[in-house]
Amino acid sequence: MALVSAKEMLEKARAGKYAVGQFNINNLEWTKSILQTAQELNAPVILGVSEGAGKYMTGFKTVADMVKAMIEGLNITVPVALHLDHGTYEGCYKCIEAGFSSIMFDGSHFPIEENVAKTKELIEVCAKKGLSLEAEVGAIGGEEDGVIGRGECADPDECKRIADLGVTMLAAGIGNIHGKYPADWTGLSFETLEKIKNKVGKMPLVLHGGTGIPTDMIKKAISLGVAKINVNTECQLAFQEATRKYIEEGKDLQGKGFDPRKLLAPGCQAIKDTVKEKMEIFGCINKA
Ligand code: 13P
Repeated sequence: MALVSAKEMLEKARAGKYAVGQFNINNLEWTKSILQTAQELNAPVILGVSEGAGKYMTGFKTVADMVKAMIEGLNITVPVALHLDHGTYEGCYKCIEAGFSSIMFDGSHFPIEENVAKTKELIEVCAKKGLSLEAEVGAIGGEEDGVIGRGECADPDECKRIADLGVTMLAAGIGNIHGKYPADWTGLSFETLEKIKNKVGKMPLVLHGGTGIPTDMIKKAISLGVAKINVNTECQLAFQEATRKYIEEGKDLQGKGFDPRKLLAPGCQAIKDTVKEKMEIFGCINKA
């Protein structure tokens, strides 16, 4: 199956009260593990690519070509969207050119008028090409690719303004942050989420910072219109821990030379387990 826009899968999720997972990719093994798990569980999936990860993988074209070839090579038949995560204005154009099927324009750090103008322009470009577009209102806290957000709650009126431009899905800050949540985190602001939902109607909402949010909060967020949940750190931590354990056991390092296929296998399995666990919570299994 060719890459698809995230529009249809998210509208179905919004209506069916479940969420599609966006799992960020960093290399070939990561991508393969996520695609195989989605196929095995018959779940739609969104592969997220940050600008930093795109650079690491030698550019967005490499990423798009690799993902398309992998879908073919692995006989993946579930819907897969390839999505730019927290794109800059320039990054969005690069991904559109490279063949991504979905982009996020993160204009949350611009004054609202500039965010509106740039989002509007990108919506038109994406619409012509059949791509989905995610916009952000209210910075999402924590650190991602060296960018530190404050974790503010979005203004519901600003959310409505951006939603009305015709974006496919909207990421709104509701106290969520990227990376691990601090011990004194006060939780998601469902009051803000409810106000946003009341303003934007059926627009699928996106919850960033999916790592470490308690299951009951995830389920409540889904009941209030969240249809896409982003997970990155949890896969990274699972991969790191499994690889560390494997190296500590020293099996791969005893005389036979270095075999990346063996060394990376436990980490890949850990990613698969994490993706499965998240998909079970999000309710997207068998929704392809
Ligand atoms: P985590 O790294 O906290 O899982 O967040 C991922 C994310 O929101 C990507 O945009």
